[in-house]
Amino acid sequence: MADSLEILTVGAQEAGIVIVGSGLAAVCALEAMREAGYVGQVTMIGEERQMPYDRPPLSKQVLKEPGAEARIDLRDAAIFDTPATRLRRGRCVAEIDARQRRVVLDDGAVVGYTKLLLATGSRPRVLPGLPPAGAGVFYLRTLDDAVALRGALKSATSLAVVGGGVIGLEVAATAVALGVETTVIEASPRLMSRAACPQLSEVLEEEHRSRGVRVLCGATPSAFDFSGNRHTILWSDGRTLEVDMVLVGVGVTPEFDLAERCGIKCAPEGIVVDGFGATSIPGVYAAGEVAFHYNGRVACHQRQENWHHAAAHGRHVGASMIEPGAVYQEICGYWSDQYDLNIQVFGAVTGDEHVVRGDLSARRFAVFHLAAGVVVGITAVNSPSDLRRGKKLVREGSSLEPEIESIVRA
Ligand code: APR
Repeated sequence: MADSLEILTVGAQEAGIVIVGSGLAAVCALEAMREAGYVGQVTMIGEERQMPYDRPPLSKQVLKEPGAEARIDLRDAAIFDTPATRLRRGRCVAEIDARQRRVVLDDGAVVGYTKLLLATGSRPRVLPGLPPAGAGVFYLRTLDDAVALRGALKSATSLAVVGGGVIGLEVAATAVALGVETTVIEASPRLMSRAACPQLSEVLEEEHRSRGVRVLCGATPSAFDFSGNRHTILWSDGRTLEVDMVLVGVGVTPEFDLAERCGIKCAPEGIVVDGFGATSIPGVYAAGEVAFHYNGRVACHQRQENWHHAAAHGRHVGASMIEPGAVYQEICGYWSDQYDLNIQVFGAVTGDEHVVRGDLSARRFAVFHLAAGVVVGITAVNSPSDLRRGKKLVREGSSLEPEIESIVRA
């Protein structure tokens, strides 16, 4: 049974649940609250002016195809505009007053809440010397960012991508296909080192090089000179690179300033929440990328940066705010599309053994990641059947099935 939520009034505004953020975690939380039987008021407050949209297409279809942004709405607009649901777009929450259970918006409006959900996500890490507003400097997180980048790529002749992670590599694949001379500059010794196993990094490096991308790994720029029309990237050994434009994709940081300012316990990884999304302050919850959350399956706190987690954690916390059930224990994954490689990763890419099935050079393979003999993750490239099988093994916490074992170890 749904718990009875006290109804407060602040001015003319009836208090109910307030959701800060209008991304995937926020939207999934709203749906889960309704499914759990909550019929009270929900006010969602989103900084972006667009209706809630999906982010993965931003570095894929939206970058390639003008107009693709018309097809990335997360949900039908009608679900955000009902007598009990209100979406305030283009508005920020400036302050949380947890004692009086109300938030203050950047336009001075005050909205009371019975329960508050913070689903504020992440923002791109900014490289010192490369301000987001700089001419010829691009970051990619929002729809506005993607449309601006798409426009600039049309007339660019050369691009430096700083950061060989998911965003950087997807942008590089699109840019080189458009005929833009593209260089990827990655600080670590291999590409996508945060989220990919070494086998996948190797295939990605070969593939990008074969398509004409210049890949520089272990290469942290020491300075940037943006004084003229051309932009110069400098290294401490005297090397330089001149380009028309720069895309920075050096990772993200959780957006938890608001929570920290009102005294909610935060760690460097994000807002600390328990297995139900509850923060250190009663009535305040956090979900998605901003949450340093407890996961019952691994019995520790973690931060996940992927679409799968934002959706699953949003749903879980939304439901838990109405009627708590089991603690969060989702196993997550991510996907990436680069050229004709469909990359799917599920579970952990760490472990003490990595068993390859298929042929790396044919670009159709899977890597089963094992820890103490148990499959903890799967990386599948153009290999949906291995992905299905790998996911099942990971979920069951099984060892490799004998028939896979005999094929891969033959
Ligand atoms: N110079 C060069 N490379 C750097 C530097 C630097 N100064 N600092 C960091 N890097 C590299 C990291 O080594 C890493 O490989 O940038 C890469 C960032 O990769 P990700 O962590 O995957 O982040 P990003 O590609 O920016 O993606 C951001 O978007 O798609 C989502 O879920 C995804 O959370 C991810 C987010």
